[in-house]
Amino acid sequence: MSLPKVYVCFSIQEAGLAVLRGNVDFEMWESDGTAPKDILLKKLADAEGAIVGHVKVDEEFLDAAPNLKVVSNFGVGYDNIDVPAASKRGVCVTNTPGVLTEATADLGFSLILASARRLMEANVFLRSGEWNTWNAELMVGVDVYGATVGIVGLGQIGQAVARRAKGFGMKILYCGDNRKPEAEASLGAKYVSLDELLRESDFVSLHCPLNDKTRGLIGERELKMMKKTAILINIARGAVVDQKALFRACSEKWIYGAGLDVFECEPVPLDEPLLNLKNVTTLPHIGSASRASRDGMASCAASNLVAALQGKRPANLVNPEVWRV
Ligand code: DGY
Repeated sequence: MSLPKVYVCFSIQEAGLAVLRGNVDFEMWESDGTAPKDILLKKLADAEGAIVGHVKVDEEFLDAAPNLKVVSNFGVGYDNIDVPAASKRGVCVTNTPGVLTEATADLGFSLILASARRLMEANVFLRSGEWNTWNAELMVGVDVYGATVGIVGLGQIGQAVARRAKGFGMKILYCGDNRKPEAEASLGAKYVSLDELLRESDFVSLHCPLNDKTRGLIGERELKMMKKTAILINIARGAVVDQKALFRACSEKWIYGAGLDVFECEPVPLDEPLLNLKNVTTLPHIGSASRASRDGMASCAASNLVAALQGKRPANLVNPEVWRV
């Protein structure tokens, strides 16, 4: 019996390939980055499954793949996928929650520390030969220990950041669609409105998914509500923040600064004005980039895909409405 054909749009780790071998007939884009669109659309012609990363799965993608049964996203956020369009065609969509939670929270907390204590700026200062003397105001930053962190979206990653914050003696506020009584009890977190969170927090840390409700959630009004000494951390999705307003906030000192792992457009163009600001720490979307996390994502994405193609309900099905036994 022939195995179902699968296209893997970028090179994934051996941990994922080991799951695919013997279960599907797969082809993978072996070069750097993601398969260019023209090649991708051709490869999809006979694919029953696809593993995608930062690839737009829209009507054009789905039209090119008439046999598609499953789109397995390598990542927890799936704003790159038009889920209703996939569901309309009966295509399963899966993602990789859990395996990347702690690594992503580590990175989020690193951004809190790096932004507060000006680590990137200090590194450049030293290497460029500016460290000629000592003075009492040299690279003075803001305190993390004992400060207040406001978590926007207390999901798995938000909670993992909150656990780290607890270890730093921080007061934890959170907002979101639903209260989380268990997290409130274990973390001592307080549920507040977004406005109260913005007004009270020393660090505002974004952990919500990108969707119609959260696109542009943090704009001029919200940035102006934050303390002048506060720092905005974004490890969610760039488009949750109005980047132009953030540039004004950081350059005109409405807020102390920002730590960003994500941007409206990625890879971020080098002429993005935020990249010129010393009080903005920037990273190339590496939240989940640890060995264990990326191996786990590869294995999880492959397992979801194989399960769906073998008629078993995938562990991380995003659109359960398509699943009929
Ligand atoms: C995710 O899992 O959503 C991360 O941002 C990696 O893309």
